[in-house]
Order: sequence, then C-alpha cells, then structure tokens
Amino acid sequence: MKSLIIQTIKKALEKKKIKISDEEIEKHLEAPPSADLGDYAFPCFFLSGIMKQDPKRIALIIRETIGNIPAELEDIQTEGPYVNFFLNRKDLASSVIDTILKQKDAYGKANMGNDKVMIEFSQANTHKAFHVGHIRGTSLGESLARILEFCGNKVIRANYQGDSGMHVAKWIWCYKKYHSREKIKNDESWIASIYVDAVERLAKGEKLQEEVDIVNKSLEGGKNKELVELWKKTRKLSLDAFEKIYKELNTHFDFYFFEKDMEKDATRIVEDLLAKKIAILSDGAAIMDLKKHNLGVWVLLRKDKTVLYSAKDLALAERKFNQYKIDRSIYVVGAEQKLHLHQLFKTLELAGFPQAKKCEYVPVSEVRFPWGKMSSRTGDNVLYSELIKQVADFAKKGIKKRTKKISDKELEGRALKISIAAIKYSMLKQNPNRNIIFKKEEAMNFEGDTGPYLLYSYTRASSILKKSKAKISSKSKNLEQKEIELIKELSKFPEITINAKKALDPSVIANYSYHLAQVFNEFYHSCQVLNSENEAFRVSLVASFEQVLKNSLYLLGIEVLDKM
Ligand code: ARG
Repeated sequence: MKSLIIQTIKKALEKKKIKISDEEIEKHLEAPPSADLGDYAFPCFFLSGIMKQDPKRIALIIRETIGNIPAELEDIQTEGPYVNFFLNRKDLASSVIDTILKQKDAYGKANMGNDKVMIEFSQANTHKAFHVGHIRGTSLGESLARILEFCGNKVIRANYQGDSGMHVAKWIWCYKKYHSREKIKNDESWIASIYVDAVERLAKGEKLQEEVDIVNKSLEGGKNKELVELWKKTRKLSLDAFEKIYKELNTHFDFYFFEKDMEKDATRIVEDLLAKKIAILSDGAAIMDLKKHNLGVWVLLRKDKTVLYSAKDLALAERKFNQYKIDRSIYVVGAEQKLHLHQLFKTLELAGFPQAKKCEYVPVSEVRFPWGKMSSRTGDNVLYSELIKQVADFAKKGIKKRTKKISDKELEGRALKISIAAIKYSMLKQNPNRNIIFKKEEAMNFEGDTGPYLLYSYTRASSILKKSKAKISSKSKNLEQKEIELIKELSKFPEITINAKKALDPSVIANYSYHLAQVFNEFYHSCQVLNSENEAFRVSLVASFEQVLKNSLYLLGIEVLDKM
C-alpha cells in the first residue's frame, strides 16, 4: 500500500516536472498522529526550496494534480502543509489477513535476487571456552542467515574453527607440563581452565614462551606422533562440545573450515606475496606494511616460518570463493578484530584478489555483565554453560510458580528454551555494533522488551485460538481503533524484513516484534475476542498476529512454545 502512495505522489510531482526518487519520498512519509488525519502523511516542507512555493500551497498543488483517488484508497486530503492519505481500511484489513493466513510461514518473504552468500560465524577456538561473546556471534550469524534466505538468497553457513596456532600450543604445553596426571575430561570448563592456567603461567615466566614456541613449531610440522595424538583427542573434545551448544542454540553449519587446514595454503600465498614484493621480510618475519593505508603492520609469518592467524585468513578467503562460487562473503566477527579484518581486506585488494570487494565485515560488539566481563570459575570470559545454567535455574523457578504439575523432563526442556530465547533476544535486539550489559532478571522479565514477553504473547494468542469455535472471517462491518493499528502493524512485516536485510541487522526485526506484541496486547485488552459479536473477525486477527510473530521470531532464530 505504501508503494502505491509513493507512486501516486511521484506521478503528481513528475507532472509538475519534479523528479524525486521513491526512496526520497519514502523517507518523508509519516504516520499521522491520529487516525482522523489518515494513514500516511506526506509533509511538503522539503519541496518549498525546489518549487519556490509555500508548503501549504504545494500540498494543494499535489492534491489537485493527483486528481481521481485510486481505488485502493478511501480519500486523499490536505491539512496545511501535509497531504494525507486514507486507506480503505476494511479492504486493507481483509487483504492483509487473507495474505497472512494464506502465505503462513512464507508471509514476508521477499525476492531480492538469489545471490549465493556465505556467512561465516561463531568460530570458536578449540582448547578454549565457548563464551558469551560466541553466543552473541552465533545468534547473530544464524539470524542473518535466516533473514537473507527469507529475502531470496542462497545462504551457506560456514564456521571457521581455530584448531591450530599459538593458543593450541599453549594448551598442549601446559597440559603436558603441569596437568598430565589429570585424566582428559569431556568437560568444556575443564578444557577452558587449562588454557587459562597456561596464560597465567606464561605471564609470570618469560622463558616459558620459548617452550611453547617449540611445541607450536612441532605441532605445525606434524611429525611428533605423541603431540599430534594429544592434539587430535583434545580437539575432538572441544568440537563435540561445540556441536552440543549449536544444537541448543538452534543453529547448524553447512561447512566447517579449520585453521589447521589453512596452514599450507597460507605459506604458499605468503611466499607468492614475498616474491611479488607485495609482502616484505622484516627481522626475518614476513609482513605487510600497511602504514600507508593507516592500517599499520600486519605480520603473516613468524621468524621461525610458522604461520599466523593473519596468513591463514588469506588462505581462507581464497578457499571460500574457489570452492563455493559465492557472490558475497560475510564475516561475523568480534569488533575487537576490526583492524585485523581491514588489514585482511586491504591485503586481498593489494594482492589483486578478484573478489576482495565482495568481502564484508559485520562487527560483533562485547557482552558484559553488571560485575564486568570475567567468569567466576575460569577467570576468563563467562562460559556458555555457566550462563545457561544460571538463566535456566531462574526460568525453572518461574515455570514452577506458573505450573503446578510438570515432569522434570518437561521442566528442563521448557526452561532451556525460554532461557535461550531470553539470551538470544537480549543480544539481537541491540545493534551488533553496540556493547551489551546482560542482566538475567531483565532478560527474563515477562513484561519488558524481552524474549519471554514475546513468547508469552504468542502463547496468549494460541490459547485464544484454541478456545474459539468461530468460523473465522477476514471481513468486518466496522473497525475499532486498536484493530486498525494491529492490521497496519501486521502489514509492515514484509517491509521490515527487507530493511533488516539491507542493514544486516536483526535488531530491526527484534524491535518490530516487540512493537507488534505491544500493539497486539493493547488490542487484546480493549477488544474482547471470545464470545464477542465480532468473534469471527477478531479471531482471524489473532491468528494473523500469531503467524507474523512466529515468522519474526523465526528470523531471530527463536523457537515458539505452546506453553510457558
Ligand atoms: N577463531 C577466531 C578467534 O577466536 C575468530 C575467527 C574469525 N574469522 C576469521 N575469518 N578470521 O579469534
């Protein structure tokens, strides 16, 4: 409907020899403060410079030039410097409801071209913790993948796990030297604690790093059987632990890249860059001097020729495009790696990598806690397992209060789902670029801008639908104010998905979901649904709301529940 209005305005202006883009018109369109001023208002102030007229006069000219009112609209009026458009609300209601109930899970899908996009996200490192920052990156990546798919893209979800490099060498070194009598445990937090211990010990003794360097070199060479076996075994423990987490977080990957597999190609690429004098040797290390580009120095190979994280990323970029014939490569990576990503993209460009311009970076900012960043158990960042347990315990108390009879299994399952929804939503409702302070009580609040509030609104709608026996109808003789507001909100969803895709930002969907649920709850409080005269119509509105909320939550990677 909005596009019809935009075109109507555009045509009228063209008749007056004024060319303005759809986007420009859209930017100015407003929602009038009250329904008697129509459904869309077009303010004419910005045209007065171009048309050399008073805005009030311009509004009249536009109205006059439009002439007959298009069939889909009820009226077009001017009010001072505004042109106000009145939708045919009953038609709008039935067309929005019919579309939603017919398209169901597909409502809101767009076809914005079917580019093949690879989204790389999560990228936890083996031998280290899966921490809250990883939850944010994983939730964000999964949501972006869903949004792009919804808009027509073919999406490849890729993970890039750090299973080699200095952090792994530190772990292996520390385990062998100080913990070898401990049994290797299938426990994420034990694995993380060994790494933390290594870091602490290294901070105390300078000489120790030399021992780690030897382990690193040896691991990269792959000839020391004992080390390789230990690496394989512990690597697998980490990777299996991550898989369990991915399942709980409702995400999956189409492809896993591993840092270890990049080492050979990385060395080859750097040698090639050195030969072409794009990279240079400095103190025996291979580096990219990017000072000219304000990006400092990027070290690729150490003096002992072992590869760094940077060089491996060159190999990864190449492999992504060569193996998958993708059109676009998105990196969802922590904001603290901003410089690294820019160094990478610049180096790709300088190396003449043909797809350098098709790489994009979505920075993920930090998650903190009211007491700071640290975890109680490992000293390092708060672990996934730690956070989930805390939030789930909180959720369980709530469920027990609401539900008298529930089996332990059901309680565990429901608490986990509510907790995941709460955590994911609290992270996705914020622009990826902004830091978050996670507060459990806030994220779990049933009455705020939270995942549980949305899930609860969903179950409220479902329970009305279950109770009603009316044969639903999208037609109504008259419409209440709150009904109109809900219908308009529902009609916005397709536009919202497009905006989220363009901005690569799920918070657009999250904020919409919250607003939609609020409008629904207002409707629900002011219009009786069950046993009302207009039950058939109102139930169709409730069903539409249920569907659209489900679709938005789907795009956020949040599963709906039957019961809270
Ligand atoms: N595993 C890396 C880390 O924890 C993140 C990988 C990001 N992706 C990339 N292509 N560099 O620091």
